[in-house]
Amino acid sequence: MSPGPPDVLIALMAWNRDPGRNRLLILMVSVTPAMWMWAGTGDATAHAAPAEAAPAAGAVPAPAAQPPPALTPRSTGAQLYAILCAPCHRADGSGGAADHAPSLINPTFLESASDAFLRTAIGNGRAGTSMGAYGKSRGGPLVDAALSRLVAFVRGLGPAYRAPRETVSRQASADRGAPLYGRLCQSCHGNVAMRGEAVHLADAGFMKSASDGFLKHAIVKGRPGTKMLAFATTMKEAEIDDVVAYLRTMANQPVPNARLPEPTGHEAIVLNPQGKNPTFTVKDDRFVSVAQVHEAFVAHRRMAIVDARPPSEWAQVHISGAVSIPYYQLGRLAEIPADVTVLAYCACPHHLSGEVVEALRKRGHAAAFVIDEGINDWHRRGYPVVAAPGVKPPPAEPAPPPPSPAQLGPLPPSPAQLGPLPPAPAPH
Ligand code: HEC
Ligand code: HEC
Repeated sequence: MSPGPPDVLIALMAWNRDPGRNRLLILMVSVTPAMWMWAGTGDATAHAAPAEAAPAAGAVPAPAAQPPPALTPRSTGAQLYAILCAPCHRADGSGGAADHAPSLINPTFLESASDAFLRTAIGNGRAGTSMGAYGKSRGGPLVDAALSRLVAFVRGLGPAYRAPRETVSRQASADRGAPLYGRLCQSCHGNVAMRGEAVHLADAGFMKSASDGFLKHAIVKGRPGTKMLAFATTMKEAEIDDVVAYLRTMANQPVPNARLPEPTGHEAIVLNPQGKNPTFTVKDDRFVSVAQVHEAFVAHRRMAIVDARPPSEWAQVHISGAVSIPYYQLGRLAEIPADVTVLAYCACPHHLSGEVVEALRKRGHAAAFVIDEGINDWHRRGYPVVAAPGVKPPPAEPAPPPPSPAQLGPLPPSPAQLGPLPPAPAPH
């Protein structure tokens, strides 16, 4: 494994938390001064300061003002959250800023979600959704100590964990649960082939980390203040148990584990440097459709395609020729010539890419756009991607409800623009 910028974070986060510093010192050996630049600090001595004395203040002499504060090796749980998570889960954790990001502070969630559950969700992400893997072991930016800080921060936003007492009867039957799920749950939660607007329960990774108690607690108590009702009033306990038994059958799909090699940070940024510039019909001064980008790609136009997601997601699948410049680490944007058309994408499908486009425009790039439907739609259409073995196009998504203006700026896209999505690829 080649040491990349995230290694620095890892080493220093270990420094703050880990009482056994031997391991830390070994990690430090692989850190070269140049690598410090990724966090915008350029200060290889920063680790000597105690964590408490280390707000980002002196640490952000970035060339042009970048929208999110720079991650530093000493970022606290709150800072990590603000930089990495708030774009989708909102600053207060109430969720819904992007895509289908759920609330992280709902009391019935936090009281039933163990630290291990939170850690798995954050470290491994949720396949087929915009919830990326942030753990170092999956190619994300956070080492264990940083993950712990983040989990502690999220935990602190709501009630303490009390292992849920709900149990599921051994008589529960997935066969009886299936039609109940179809009638009562699927419209929001989707199924294996189709995502819904709510948490994608048909995900093997999720199902492995969620205990019976966690699942049943959610169904019995609901998530107050959201569309997730408390089903205790409308379902018999045995029916709830049958549904949980059915949910368990959703864990039977394979969890994709393969990854491409991590991005080196030296991939060529500009595609077809000798090509003509592309021309696009741009919606709301911001969005270009996947179909247009695909046409420009096939016609060998000169452009840069930026993958705004965490590198762990890039290493699963990315648009051919796309370079990984995560939304929280925008230093490499400086390498993009100002006259090159830049297209940024994510899976949300607008939020993280929107941050990259914002940053580019602040840097003076007039031609910086969001790929409207994001990578999931690109992938489902069979457009060129580089994918790790076994990574398939994600489940189809229903057209999202129009986001509120506050979320997207002046002109949110209409559902019609996202078009109907075929539930499965055509037979040929
Ligand atoms: C690009 C948007 C996005 C970003 C950024 C993001 N999340 Fe998520 N997150 C989601 C979505 C969408 C889901 C629901 C996935 C699903 O359907 O299973 C989710 C799920 C979760 C869950 C599981 C919640 C549950 O009810 O099971 C946790 C915990 C979580 N995110 C924490 C975080 C943290 C902490 C960060 C920052 C490191 C983060 N997320 C960054 C979109 C995002
Ligand atoms: C009207 C839409 C809707 C319906 C119907 C619905 N849910 Fe939900 N469900 C949600 C939403 C939205 C959330 C996440 C709420 C949040 O942001 O905290 C959720 C959360 C959950 C969770 C917690 C997931 C997690 O990781 O936190 C489980 C489990 C769940 N629902 C199961 C069910 C089951 C089983 C049914 C059918 C009996 C059902 N839901 C019906 C909308 C719905």
